[in-house]
Formats: sequence, structure tokens, C-alpha cells
Amino acid sequence: MITLHKKLARVLITGGSRGIGLAIARRLLECGVQVHYCSRRPSGYEHPAFVHVAADLADTDLGPKTVIEHFEERGIAPDGLICAAGTICEALVFKQVDQTIERQLAVNMTSHIKLIQWAAVPMMRARFGRIVAVSSTAARFPAPGQSVYAAAKAGLEAFLKGCAVELASKGVTCNRIVPGYIVTDFSREYLESRDLRKVVPVGRAGIREEVAEAVLLFLGANSGYLTGSEVVIDGGLSLAVK
Ligand SMILES: NC(=O)c1ccc[n+]([C@@H]2O[C@H](COP(=O)([O-])OP(=O)(O)OC[C@H]3O[C@@H](n4cnc5c(N)ncnc54)[C@H](OP(=O)(O)O)[C@@H]3O)[C@@H](O)[C@H]2O)c1
Repeated sequence: MITLHKKLARVLITGGSRGIGLAIARRLLECGVQVHYCSRRPSGYEHPAFVHVAADLADTDLGPKTVIEHFEERGIAPDGLICAAGTICEALVFKQVDQTIERQLAVNMTSHIKLIQWAAVPMMRARFGRIVAVSSTAARFPAPGQSVYAAAKAGLEAFLKGCAVELASKGVTCNRIVPGYIVTDFSREYLESRDLRKVVPVGRAGIREEVAEAVLLFLGANSGYLTGSEVVIDGGLSLAVK
């Protein structure tokens, strides 16, 4: 059982309405953390400390701006930022069009770069902050159709490594979680058509609660020396990729 850092009182989770983001939110809410989350639609899950911000991160100007204004209007800032919103438009390289390329880069990377840039300033002032990005094993081993998604995730990872170096001395840590196959709306169709027993050493897809538990590692009471790091949570998939 991980005890959260005592300075972690308010967290922003992008994509907190469903899937992995919601599982992380629920774990944090259980621990008494106030969670603000952004997504286009509100979550079906309700809790007095779970606050929705309606924002579309496919719009790299208005999306992050709406989230930032939500905090500024209330005179508050997050001391944790979990970048969990993500989208994929699976298509072979020559079938990707401007719209699918731009959407995947915006939601998975550019809007998060802007939110991290904004959140880092009050975190540095407070000399405490925890930033975690949800990447994907696709960033290293993209399957056919995942090239743009992989590029966006790899770009966000590279940005976060740079942030880890720049922000470490200010008490702000930047880490990433790298899931493989996890059962959510995002992957359901893909997983239904595959027999994972032949692909994943553990023999099954992961569940979102397992990812949430791994994210807590980066938010724990003694997590200050963990920065620029990653936890791959893929049931051994990366070891089995030929
Ligand atoms: N599931 C997997 O197998 C898997 C594997 C590797 C990595 N990941 C990564 O894990 C993260 C979470 O995925 P998930 O499986 O939990 O997916 P999910 O169940 O589809 O949830 C995606 C979340 O992102 C939000 N989102 C999507 N597009 C958005 C937009 N344009 N603006 C704002 N919010 C948006 C969704 O809310 P709205 O739709 O209401 O906007 C939702 O809250 C993603 O970054 C994904 O790339 C997932």
C-alpha cells in the first residue's frame, strides 16, 4: 500500500472521465486528493471532490486554454498532473490524412506539452510537483496503423525527459507509465479480435486498476528521487516482441 506524498492535495488528470484516467482518479479520490479532470464529456462517476472541465484537447489553443482558465478563475493550481487523455486513428501511413495526423498529434502530444509547460510554473514556485504521462508500448513497437500515434507518444516522452532534467532541482518530478494492452473503450475492439495468450507472456490484457496502481509509485511519500523514469506495464509484451 503506497502512502501518497503529503503535499499532493490537488491533481489535474486529462482524460479522467473513463478508462485508465478514471481508474487513477478513483485511487486518488480514495486517498483524499481533490481531482480536476478534463475530457469532452463528463464522467459517469461522481464524487464531491471530482471536478469536470469540459475541454477538447484536439484544439491545441482552446483546449489547454479552457483548462488553464478553469484553475485561474478559482485561484488554484494543481500540484500533480497526470496526462492520460489519448486518441488513436488507426490507418496505414499512406491512408492518414491531415485531419487524423493533426488530431493524434494534438491530443496525445501538443496539448499536453502546453499543459505541462503551464503547470510546471506554480509547481516550481511551490518547489513541489508530480507530472506523469501515460505513454504506450506503441511508441517503441508500433503495430501497422499506429505510426502517427506512436510518433505523438514518443514526442511526449521526449518532452517529458527534457522537463525531468530542467525541473528536478525545483522538486518537480516527471515520469511516464508505458502500458501495453489494457482493457478499456480505447482498445476493446482491437483486443476482441486477438488471442493475447500467444502474444503476452502473462497471457492476458491488463486492467486499468493495475495501471493506476503503478502510477501511484510516482506519487508516493518517498518518490522524490524518481524522475525521468518509466514503468512499463505490459505483462512482459516488450520482452516478447521480436
Ligand atoms: N487501453 C490501452 O490498451 C492503452 C495502451 C497503451 C496506452 N494507452 C494510453 O492510455 C491513455 C488512456 O487510454 P484509455 O485506454 O483509458 O482510453 P479511453 O478509455 O478511450 O479514455 C480516453 C480518455 O481521453 C479522453 N479524450 C479523448 N479524446 C479527447 C479529446 N479530444 N479531448 C479531451 N479528452 C479526450 C476521453 O474523454 P472524452 O472522450 O469524453 O473526451 C477519455 O477520458 C491514453 O493516453 C492511451 O493512449 C492505452
